[in-house]
Amino acid sequence: LSRKVEMTNWEKGHYINYKKMSENLAIVRGRLNRPLTFAEKILYSHLDDPHGQEIERGTSYLKLRPDRVACQDATAQMAILQFMSAGMPSVATPTTVHCDHLIEAQVGGPADLARAKDINKEVYDFLSTSCAKYNIGFWKPGSGIIHQIIMENYAFPGALLIGTDSHTPNAGGLGMAAIGVGGADAVDVMADLPWELKAPKVIGVKLTGKLSGWTAPKDIILKVAGILTVKGGTGAIVEYHGPGTESISCTGMGTICNMGAEIGATTSLFPFNDRMYDYLKATKRQAIGDFSREYAKELREDEGAEYDQLIEINLSELEPHINGPFTPDLATPISKFKEAVKENKWPEELKVGLIGSCTNSSYEDMTRAASIAEDAMSHGIKAKSLFTVTPGSEQVRATIARDGQLETFEEFGGMVLANACGPCIGQWDRKDVKKGEPNSIISSYNRNFTGRNDANPATHAFVTSPDLVVAMTIAGTLNFNPLTDTLKDKDGNEFKLKEPVGEALPANGFDPGEDTYQAPPSDRSAVSVAVSPTSDRLQILQPFNAWDGKDAKDLPILIKTQGKTTTDHISMAGPWLKYRGHLDNISNNMLIGAINADNGEANKIKNILTGSYDAVPAVARDYKKNGIPWVVVGDWNYGEGSSREHAALEPRHLGGLAIITRSFARIHETNLKKQGMLPLVFSDPADYDKITPEDKVDLLVTELAVGKPMTMVVHPKDGSSFNVELSHTFNAGQIEWFKNGSALNTMAKKAKN
Ligand code: F3S
Repeated sequence: LSRKVEMTNWEKGHYINYKKMSENLAIVRGRLNRPLTFAEKILYSHLDDPHGQEIERGTSYLKLRPDRVACQDATAQMAILQFMSAGMPSVATPTTVHCDHLIEAQVGGPADLARAKDINKEVYDFLSTSCAKYNIGFWKPGSGIIHQIIMENYAFPGALLIGTDSHTPNAGGLGMAAIGVGGADAVDVMADLPWELKAPKVIGVKLTGKLSGWTAPKDIILKVAGILTVKGGTGAIVEYHGPGTESISCTGMGTICNMGAEIGATTSLFPFNDRMYDYLKATKRQAIGDFSREYAKELREDEGAEYDQLIEINLSELEPHINGPFTPDLATPISKFKEAVKENKWPEELKVGLIGSCTNSSYEDMTRAASIAEDAMSHGIKAKSLFTVTPGSEQVRATIARDGQLETFEEFGGMVLANACGPCIGQWDRKDVKKGEPNSIISSYNRNFTGRNDANPATHAFVTSPDLVVAMTIAGTLNFNPLTDTLKDKDGNEFKLKEPVGEALPANGFDPGEDTYQAPPSDRSAVSVAVSPTSDRLQILQPFNAWDGKDAKDLPILIKTQGKTTTDHISMAGPWLKYRGHLDNISNNMLIGAINADNGEANKIKNILTGSYDAVPAVARDYKKNGIPWVVVGDWNYGEGSSREHAALEPRHLGGLAIITRSFARIHETNLKKQGMLPLVFSDPADYDKITPEDKVDLLVTELAVGKPMTMVVHPKDGSSFNVELSHTFNAGQIEWFKNGSALNTMAKKAKN
């Protein structure tokens, strides 16, 4: 295992360290003396201190040394701005930045890309110069979606990667632990600090049987999401295993891992197998595949490994599923879907079908989808609904352009969009329906929260496999089951669509397409980073104030949110993505999507100083101006959804002290801690109901200590008062973050000493 094999073809001198990993693992085995799951093997082999680290699943905080960091362009701006303020000359861990989130879908790939380059010039210039300066690999706009680029170029079996995007787990399809984090975590690792993760529990999903017909890899995760719900994977890694894994392509396994983010899982992964070897070979990394074969024993679970929860799925019996609308865990098998449409009065007409995205844009996905489109065209019919295709990478785009699938999609009536996130992240200039008009769309994406794709809260967004998207697009209605129903050909004769067929990997190899990579220059000292002081999109960061050491008295509740409060509600995407690098400007979207428990409305809260109703950011700014810190009261799984740390930076910037909820989504909870906020949880969830938005609260912050609850004294308007016990998950290091005002302040302080 002491051979020198490069992690990637794009860098020199970054070797895969199976030797060190196996040594670490031997140390941990000696201590734990039990069979290990694959997820545990990856994590424990990356421990900073395998001898001394306390290890208990679900309890300990692991200090880890990831192999790589990846950032997308929206989150990279703030991550790099933060890294810059730590004052180091180069990133300490190999890092890449990917331009994929800022390209709006309007008229099709080339024009949309050209327009994006123009509109986002300032941001792309900042990213490209800062990457060159700090030794970061830079993937230019047009290169593709971060998770596909990682899969094609950087993922390798047994690796630990962190990425500033919630769908980073996609790389689990190549047998690694790829974990979505906030920008602040990425900054730690770029700056050579160990990265901290609460030791996850491990949920085993045993796959038996074999996929066939209309059932696709996507259906596995749609089914799992239905079983586990959006909360079910919280604090856990989902580990697939069993004989069924052999019938799934490497990219198909990627799809399954990708969408594991929708059940709140820390990550998902598959054990190393021949399908992964084939993919490595096809992407010019056979040397890595061979090296992985030498280390293969540690690239899967030990015999007898125990899972905290075990789910079994027989792929031979698995039906295609459609999940949604509005939530990715509402899973309906295709055989029951028509009934569900009727019962729930979902709009029957299908307006738009969208395939691609980081979730489902592999060569296999594209060839299968094209086979269905071709079948329809052979009967003289085309897409009835609007249809869009988002290739995941320049390599996939160039390959399907060469092999003909792209042309098929265009003939079929499709619009091929840029190799970027596009409508998946709300970068969609949708024209076919008016805002507020109820309508249905179906995509092969992963996430379908209200308003995510087109900012229309009345849009019913469903997620499914690309195969079903194409079939439904042909029918133009949700009332169609391609397994049982017929369509009419151009002459009115009935026919049934053939089952899709595809190729996992291109027979003639991948066509790399245009060169879209910028390597850091050998002399980086001359590079200057481009940030204009008058920019409304980029702002150099100022450190937050340290804690004053006192209890906080008489705090207003800015808003008591009710029901789902995702990071989309806390820091909306879409048009706001523009201000990702400018904290003050983007703070004008803080919590504007959250529902006020007081009046059931979004972005309408009472300002206790004036008694009048106003927008959430406006009220927060008014409190801040008057020197009054505030708290937010939230419901279950507060902060679920994407990893954006702006959702934590904004409340901190606008003067918030604590977010008090029934429970948190993991990444958001950590992000709040990083920014020096207090994420606190009602010890008794029923206490949420005892709070009314006009109460004032005292937080006995001086009680903050590891494993100890904190008291909140609630003062209702009638002059009475009562105590509520709040819990938290702060460890000693994180308490320092709070005291110093943020994790970054703590790092800067350490660097000085
Ligand atoms: Fe982009 Fe959507 Fe994936 S936003 S990274 S394509 S989930």
